[in-house]
Amino acid sequence: GKGEYPHFMLKEIHEQPTSLAQAIEGRLDVERDEVYLGSFPPGRFEDIDRIQFVACGTSYHAALYGSIAMNRSGLQTSVHLANEYSVCAPPVDERTLVIAVTQSGETADTLGAMRRAAAGGARILTVTNVIGSTAARNADDVLLIRAGPEIGVAATKTFSAQAVMLLLLAQRLADDIVGEAAVGGDSMLADIRALPERFEGVLEDGTAKTLAESYLESQSFFFIGRGLGYPVALEGALKFKEITYEHAEGFASGELKHGPLALVTPDTPVFAIFTGQEDEKVLANAEEAHTRGAPVIAVCHEGHPATDIADGHLEIPDVDSSLAGLLANVQLQLLSYHAADRLGRPIDKPRNLAKSVTVE
Ligand code: M6R
Repeated sequence: GKGEYPHFMLKEIHEQPTSLAQAIEGRLDVERDEVYLGSFPPGRFEDIDRIQFVACGTSYHAALYGSIAMNRSGLQTSVHLANEYSVCAPPVDERTLVIAVTQSGETADTLGAMRRAAAGGARILTVTNVIGSTAARNADDVLLIRAGPEIGVAATKTFSAQAVMLLLLAQRLADDIVGEAAVGGDSMLADIRALPERFEGVLEDGTAKTLAESYLESQSFFFIGRGLGYPVALEGALKFKEITYEHAEGFASGELKHGPLALVTPDTPVFAIFTGQEDEKVLANAEEAHTRGAPVIAVCHEGHPATDIADGHLEIPDVDSSLAGLLANVQLQLLSYHAADRLGRPIDKPRNLAKSVTVE
């Protein structure tokens, strides 16, 4: 049941320190800088030369996160919406690893993309939360995220666990395929080990609730980020629109000036995500919005230069740029939850949506 929580979504947001600890348990050795992913011993992916991600919705955002991290370490990757995969038809062969990211393992679009890739001879790996799901049964390799059951339609703890497992997988793949791995900073594994505690800290912060209330009357809500902050901006906006029914959009911060800036007014709060990578550029983009009168809310660590211009601040700890976005995402989960709660929305079962979408 929901226990002390009014909604499964809030319960699952708060479960993240535990579910992450569960996800990474026994899977990393910080001292040796090594990852242990059960069925993937060193060398398992030696014969792979390109990686394609297929996924939908929140899982697509986690896939984008994983893909950006893999690119950083020299792996050749591309990311595809599973429902577009059949029409964009990227070439595959037996040296292609297709990674299907699906919490439920039952999403029809994603299963369809897996079938297509398998027919072309690709090797299929699924990152899933459900042992024995269709995706797990149909894949050559399975990486379980071990987040525990997720009941709320809005994916929360599974996104965090997917992203973290993809960072570990990135390290395994980089070791096998490009030799020296450099997915995050030197201390990435130590930082991942400390992540449950970091999540705990963010969850204790009450700012997102207050902020959600003060901007409730706004016309639209924009989320911007760069690099690993970009999938978080997309995810922040998806969560916001799905449970509040308010208009929200996520943009790559550098894209703002290529069109969306025309929408920016004093009635459109802009949530800017700072991960520590090219933050000065995100800040310049946020300033452009601010000049047009938009309230800017900086999601960043304390003392960050963005707090000087921002109208609001959602604080995250100062961590490796490979992980900062995941902490920013927790603040945005809380923001969406509290906004939806204030608006009296049926948070665990938003209208027109299902937990797993089993039709194409
Ligand atoms: O079970 P899956 O991860 O394959 O589901 C994919 C999407 O339907 C899902 O992530 C959806 O976008 C979320 N429930 C939104 O919060």
